[in-house]
Amino acid sequence: MDTTGTGTGDLNGITSRLDVIADLGVDAVWLSPVYLSPFIDGGYDISDHCAIDPRFGTMADFDAFIARVHQLGLRLVMDQVLNHTSDRHPNFLASIKGDEDAASRYVWRDPKPDGTAPNNWLTQFGQPAWTWNHKRHQYYMHQYFKEQPSLDLRCPFVQDTHRRELQFWLDRGVDGFRFDVVTAFLFDPSMQDNPPASAEVQDKVAGDNFVPYTYQDHKYDILPGDGAAYMEKLRDWVGPDIWLIGESTVGNDSLSLAMNFTEQGRLDGCYTTDLPQGLADADTLERIFAQGTDLQRLPGWLSSHDQPRHLTDPALARFYALLMAVLPGPWLIYQGEELGLTQPTLDKKDVTDPLDLLYWPDGPGREGARVPLPWSGEEPGYGFTDGRPWLPMQWPTAAADERDSDHGVTAFYRRALRLRRTKGWNVATVSDYMRDGDLLRFTLRCENGPFTAWVNYGDAPIEAPKGHVVISSEPVEDFIGAHTIAVVDNASGES
Ligand code: NOJ
Repeated sequence: MDTTGTGTGDLNGITSRLDVIADLGVDAVWLSPVYLSPFIDGGYDISDHCAIDPRFGTMADFDAFIARVHQLGLRLVMDQVLNHTSDRHPNFLASIKGDEDAASRYVWRDPKPDGTAPNNWLTQFGQPAWTWNHKRHQYYMHQYFKEQPSLDLRCPFVQDTHRRELQFWLDRGVDGFRFDVVTAFLFDPSMQDNPPASAEVQDKVAGDNFVPYTYQDHKYDILPGDGAAYMEKLRDWVGPDIWLIGESTVGNDSLSLAMNFTEQGRLDGCYTTDLPQGLADADTLERIFAQGTDLQRLPGWLSSHDQPRHLTDPALARFYALLMAVLPGPWLIYQGEELGLTQPTLDKKDVTDPLDLLYWPDGPGREGARVPLPWSGEEPGYGFTDGRPWLPMQWPTAAADERDSDHGVTAFYRRALRLRRTKGWNVATVSDYMRDGDLLRFTLRCENGPFTAWVNYGDAPIEAPKGHVVISSEPVEDFIGAHTIAVVDNASGES
């Protein structure tokens, strides 16, 4: 929500709409980066980790925002980008000028004798992970855009700075952190070339298969063991009560990586960006179950600011909402899912995300999901802004009305969230998992249970179980229809 007419959302705007979020029945708000940034990568390129970017407001606005969060009984999870900074960060600029203390915080390396980059590592976005700097006569490493130089997380200065930055936000009342790209934190100091990925490894490399990143076996640039153990340091810095969730985006086998990162004394949850959209098919869910994965440590979600919206058909909004509601572990709802929004189409001339532009029109489509939310049916700003929205908005006129309807998608989200909390599905243990064609069935064991979730991914109806249907994504009588989920209270009959 924009309160200044700039076309960009701001902190005061979010504060003014927090009651809508609280009304959904969620526990917490995840705020994406609002730090000082040149905004090359949507604010994930930070030039001062302890300052609010003026485009979003002031520190006083932040304080008012967090006060309102707490007043409404919500908690605040702030994004933290520890892996890299902006190339405009004073330390990086100083390192270019020859300040060796500052340089030791980043990953500067000499070229090979033939002038080429130190090794064959690639960014997750598909470019060489090294950019030449003619002043230092060295390359610096970056795992994302070249404007995001990677920090050396083994450097004591860097660790000390991070500890102080986290404390800065904890002192302002933050309740949790979402750590960007935790799997990219540590690399093997030998810095050897990654070998090519065998067919078997290639299958398990997280990432988009249109970038060459998936051709490599990430043996040296991603260290699951050491990287995961690094989380204990973070836990130590913030204490046991601060809720921590990490993003596992890279490396071989993101699922087992995520599990390493959430072992005792590490993070509370870790999500993997390659799985979420896969939840749209039964195979991915089966793969998660079949690995015996502890779902309480693996947040379920389908959309984010990094992927196109998952909904292609608004009629499936309830199906996905309920799927997320019955998967234990944190449920992350990306803004707008509760309105049943689908991915908007953007013209290339309107797109600002360098990643979408790099592979246009075949890229990930990150920016479509970032189009601001409608608060009314009125074009061009749909109640989001009095100015020109930073991305063109073209929403169905009735989209904003969802919030006020008793039968709409938002009302369904509220119901699913309430049941999840009151029945204890969020902390349930999954058992008796079964797959039969397009049907997946599993039992949720929890204090008020057990319950069985019947997930019909197929086009054909299946016979409904006996017992009381607590909630279903479509009405269920004798049959569970196509693409429908029903949750049955086992205590009420056979299931
Ligand atoms: C993950 C963030 O979610 C994404 O938006 C960003 O481009 C990369 N990390 C790099 O920070």
